[in-house]
Amino acid sequence: MTTTIPTGRHFLQIPGPTNVPDSVLRAMAAPTIDHRGPAFSDLLAELLHDIKPVFGTAGPVVIYPASGTGAWEAALVNTLSPGDRVLCFETGHFATLWQEMATRLGLVVEFVPGDWRHGASPEAAAERLAADTEHRIKAVCVVHNETSTGVTSRIADIRRAIDATGHPALYLVDTISSLGSLDYRHDEWGVDVTVSGSQKGLMLPPGLSFNAVSDKALAAAETARLPRSYWDWTPILGANATGFTSYTPATNMLYGLREALRILYAEGLENVYARHARHAEATRAAVRGWGLEVLCKDEREYSGVLTAVVVPDGHDADRIRDLILDRYDMSLGAGLGRLAGRVFRIGHLGHTNDLTLAGTLAGVQMGLRASGLDVGTEGINAALDVLGRPAAPA
Ligand SMILES: Cc1ncc(COP(=O)(O)O)c(C=O)c1O
Repeated sequence: MTTTIPTGRHFLQIPGPTNVPDSVLRAMAAPTIDHRGPAFSDLLAELLHDIKPVFGTAGPVVIYPASGTGAWEAALVNTLSPGDRVLCFETGHFATLWQEMATRLGLVVEFVPGDWRHGASPEAAAERLAADTEHRIKAVCVVHNETSTGVTSRIADIRRAIDATGHPALYLVDTISSLGSLDYRHDEWGVDVTVSGSQKGLMLPPGLSFNAVSDKALAAAETARLPRSYWDWTPILGANATGFTSYTPATNMLYGLREALRILYAEGLENVYARHARHAEATRAAVRGWGLEVLCKDEREYSGVLTAVVVPDGHDADRIRDLILDRYDMSLGAGLGRLAGRVFRIGHLGHTNDLTLAGTLAGVQMGLRASGLDVGTEGINAALDVLGRPAAPA
C-alpha cells in the first residue's frame, strides 16, 4: 500500500519491462492500418531488414505477437522432435523455466547444475558433448543474460567449446534481456536460434518476441516433429516473403519497433553497449561502496543490464524494495525463485542515462539506510566517480 503520494516521474528500474522513450510511445499512437495493404507491407519489409543488425545476422528474423516465453517455445518446437536430448545450464530462474518447458514439450533435458552466481560453463558444455559420442544431444540451450541473477554466459566461448568437440548440436540462445544492451552476434557466434523479446533493451512495451534463425535451424525445421502450429516458422516466413504475416500483426507495436531501432542505430550499437557497461560498472562501484556484495561471482560474466545485490543475513530484500517504492516511488526487481528475499535487482538498461542512474543509486542508498542497513554514503560517491570519467569513444 502506497503511503506517500507520488510526484514527478516514477523510477522504473526493474530489469524489464523498461522505460519506453516518449518518441516510441508517440510512434505507437498512430492509426492501425490494413495489415493486408501496401503501407503495411512497406513497414514490414523495412523492419525485417532493419532488425537484423541488432541480432548480428544476415538471416531471417521471425516476429511473434507474443511475450518472450512464446519465442522460447518456438525455438524448441521448430527444431526438435519428441525424445530429443537438450543440454541446458542452471544459471538461474529463467534457465530453469526454459528447461521445464522443454521437459513439458517431451524433450529429455540434461540440466547442468549451477549456483545461480555463474554463467553456463564452456568447460561443462565441452565435457557433456564430448561424452555424447552417439550425438543424442540435439540442442544446447543457453540464456545469454540471466535476468534473475545479473550474470551473463559467454556465448562465443560456449560456441568454441561446442566446435572443439565436433558435436553437431544446434545452439539456441535466449537474449530476451540482452538484445539491444549487450554485444551480440548471432551469425559470428554460430547461434542457430536467437530468442528475444521487445520489453528490455529494445525499449518497447511487452508484446513482441523474436526468433533469429540460421540455415542449420531452418534445415532442422524440415524434419523436426514436435507438434507446432502457431509457432511454425514456415507459414510466417512464407507470408513475410510477400510482405505480410500469417497472423494479424501487432501493427502499433511494429510502429514502436521502427522508432526504437531508429534510436538504437542513431546512438550506434557500440555506443549503446559501452553505455550499458559503464552504467553497470558505476552500479557495482556503488554496491561495493555500501559494503554489499554483487551476486555475480566472475567478473567476465558481469551483466551490463542489471546488478543483483545480496542483502546481508537478517534483512529481507523485499521489505527494502517495498520501502523504496513507498518512499521514493522507485521499482526495483525482486529476487526470483531461490533468491526471493535474498537479493534485489537494479535494472540499468534501455532508455536511461547518467543522471537517471545517479538518481536510482541515490534512491537505493537512501532506502538501504532507512531500512536500518549500515551502508554509509560512499556508494553513491563511488558511482559518481565512475560516471564522472569521460566515456571512452566507441
Ligand atoms: C532471460 C529471460 N528469458 C525469458 C523470459 C520470459 O519472457 P516473457 O516474460 O516475456 O514471456 C524473461 C522475462 O523476463 C527473461 O528475462
